[in-house]
Amino acid sequence: IPKEQPYRTSYHFQPPQNWMNDPNAPMYYKGVYHLFYQHNPLAATFGDIIVWAHSVSYDLINWIHLNIALEPSGPYDINSCWSGSATILPGEKPAILYTGIDHYKNEVQNLAIPKNLTDAFLREWEKHPQNPVMTPPTGVEEDNFRDPSTAWHGKDGKWRVIVGAQNGDEGKTILYQSEDFVNWTVNPNPFFATDNTGVCECPDFFPVYINSTNGVDTSVDNSSVRHVLKISYLRKQHDYYFLGKYVSDKENFVPDVEFTGTSKDLRFDYGKFYASKSFFDYAKNRRILWGWVNESDSTQDDIEKGWAGLQTIPRKVWLDKSGKRLMQWPIEEIENLRHKQISITGEKLEGGSTLEISGINVSQVDVEVLFELPELESGDWLEDPSEVDPQLLCSKQHASRSGKIGPFGLLALASKDLTEETAVSFQIFRASNRYLCLMCSDQSRSSLRNDLDKTTYGTIFDIDPNLKTISLRTLIDKSIIESFGDGGKAVITSRVYPLLAIEKDAHLYVFNNGSQSVVISKLNAWSMKQAEIGHEGNINCA
Ligand code: FRU
Repeated sequence: IPKEQPYRTSYHFQPPQNWMNDPNAPMYYKGVYHLFYQHNPLAATFGDIIVWAHSVSYDLINWIHLNIALEPSGPYDINSCWSGSATILPGEKPAILYTGIDHYKNEVQNLAIPKNLTDAFLREWEKHPQNPVMTPPTGVEEDNFRDPSTAWHGKDGKWRVIVGAQNGDEGKTILYQSEDFVNWTVNPNPFFATDNTGVCECPDFFPVYINSTNGVDTSVDNSSVRHVLKISYLRKQHDYYFLGKYVSDKENFVPDVEFTGTSKDLRFDYGKFYASKSFFDYAKNRRILWGWVNESDSTQDDIEKGWAGLQTIPRKVWLDKSGKRLMQWPIEEIENLRHKQISITGEKLEGGSTLEISGINVSQVDVEVLFELPELESGDWLEDPSEVDPQLLCSKQHASRSGKIGPFGLLALASKDLTEETAVSFQIFRASNRYLCLMCSDQSRSSLRNDLDKTTYGTIFDIDPNLKTISLRTLIDKSIIESFGDGGKAVITSRVYPLLAIEKDAHLYVFNNGSQSVVISKLNAWSMKQAEIGHEGNINCA
């Protein structure tokens, strides 16, 4: 690994070196948080042999890297240990179901259990002698049958689990049931299916409280909860979620709104974010979501850096009061890394102005801004909101550079001369009988370097007609920018690789390109301390 590492993060989770993709089997066990992840121990690229690396933490922020937890060993996983999930069985016994690439290169599901339950770090795992416990059923392609979810316990005492699959163009999740977690029976009808989507990867299925931001155990099913099904569609490279009804007597899921394949579908994140997985943290009664963020530079760059792949800061998820979407917020523990602080209150930002936030290290920073809005009535008119492609609108914004209320927001990882900057912005629109907020993360000027994916990301959401203020929280960490709009209603994560705006040469600005002025009613920004990372065992360290 080269010594100069301007893009390696200081408080996001990443392996000591080499490739990482999906988060696997996150869980809380005996006072310890566990994160496993898809890892190529030999290179900074995806590989023929993928293993489960394993790290533990007391706070989800500072980590200890342990030995590899699962690696190919039997005919049922000899060609890789792919994604899977943990379930805590009665008596506080964790179990992992994961996908093995078997000796025929077919995908099968396997069971592993800890060797020693008194070890809170769960260092060693034993594969079950009956593996594989699930093989591709009829109507499922042998090489598209993977990623078992966390299991849930039905009222009849049986376990249920769903597995992602494909049959031609149809994507589906298949339900299995078991009494003992070892012998599984397939349900002939899919739990959920979508036409013309291709494979469903990493399905996640969980309940959320209707009237509380608290999380709830995956097996809870009563009138106080609704259900969420998340699918990672490989063709789209995005994580989509559906709110809906779990019909337990039919063992299927009926979404409130069908999948359309357009920008109208709900996503956890409108930027880079894939193969996410949630777990119920019963220590703090919350549901926590992890997601994989891939690189936006080239494979050659990754090889030179010696690593690829990040995880987002874990997010708490809950159902919005509207019942129509989920809310997300960085877990509170991240605030323990907040260090030097800068605050601004009641500062007017005239149309066309910028204001620098200086005096702290803005290449690793947590910024929260509350903007006071002018009368929403003065926003730009949007003829037909249902026809809008927000990503396209965001890309055009840069060319036009102005609206009425916004774009305003932050210029992150900017160079002094502003030849490099990533604009995270809001623009308010009015339409007949409603108001909307366009949220953008514009990477087009993020770096003077070429060979980077600089796609602009965006999303549009309805806002309260009486809205007076709107918040933006952005976590910046060297090469990742995670932005939470309107209290966590919409999230956009991006990767950027500035040439000039690194370390002490990185700048942060608040800007307003709209013709109306907005007021920074409150801004707090904190330099973030480096997370503490320890190693144990023989994971490859640079
Ligand atoms: C999602 C995925 C999973 C698979 C794993 C392999 O990114 O393709 O479907 O199990 O990654 O690493």
